[in-house]
Amino acid sequence: MTLLDGKKLATQIKSEIKEKVLTRAAEGKKIPHLAAILVGENPASMAYVRNKVKSCEEVGFTSTLFKEPDTISENDLLHLVENLNNNPEIDGFIVQLPLPGHINEHLITLAIKAEKDVDGFHPVNLGKMMLGLPCFLSATPKGILEMLSRYEIPTKGKHVVVVGRSHIVGTPMSILLSRKGKQGDATVTLTGDVHFPSVEPVSSYISPVPGGVGQLTVMALIQNTLLAAERKD
Ligand code: GUN
Repeated sequence: MTLLDGKKLATQIKSEIKEKVLTRAAEGKKIPHLAAILVGENPASMAYVRNKVKSCEEVGFTSTLFKEPDTISENDLLHLVENLNNNPEIDGFIVQLPLPGHINEHLITLAIKAEKDVDGFHPVNLGKMMLGLPCFLSATPKGILEMLSRYEIPTKGKHVVVVGRSHIVGTPMSILLSRKGKQGDATVTLTGDVHFPSVEPVSSYISPVPGGVGQLTVMALIQNTLLAAERKD
């Protein structure tokens, strides 16, 4: 059984991106700039965002964090999104979810310009993903594809079981694995949760928690931000 080492892969990807940023700087190209909007003080969200900002620093990106109180109105948040949409300095940005109950998350997601939606949550990016067109893939599915690719695990002709069907992970994952391609061409089933000790004896590969695919999700966001900057070159 092979343990899929996300930490090792993330370190590798980080140094590859750092190298690209240095090359861009030497060529006088723009340093990728990621912005994040954090509303309220949800401890998990604060930790995720801190991690994203830290990763930006590690690869040499510029980052800006907008910390907003959980009392911010939907209108004010929409204005902030609009400002970031129109700010040429910002290559990509995210609005950390979940948002307080009085704010409509769909409305906010729809307001983000698809070209800057490095989370890959906008319907334009999800639609392009369905069609196999270039787009921003959401972080966890992108991290999983990266892991399959770097460990050279082909899925062609395989029966893949995807656990869960969230908009952020399960649903895009099932679509990506059934698309044409090396990390695709699979028959996909969606199911409930997985019991690690039970699947361990019969699994060829396991991505552990912690230290597995979670490590690659932030790298996926970083990769999308670099892509956003490169598209403007
Ligand atoms: N909340 C949990 N995961 C994510 C993510 O990948 N992006 C955003 N914006 N919010 C999240």
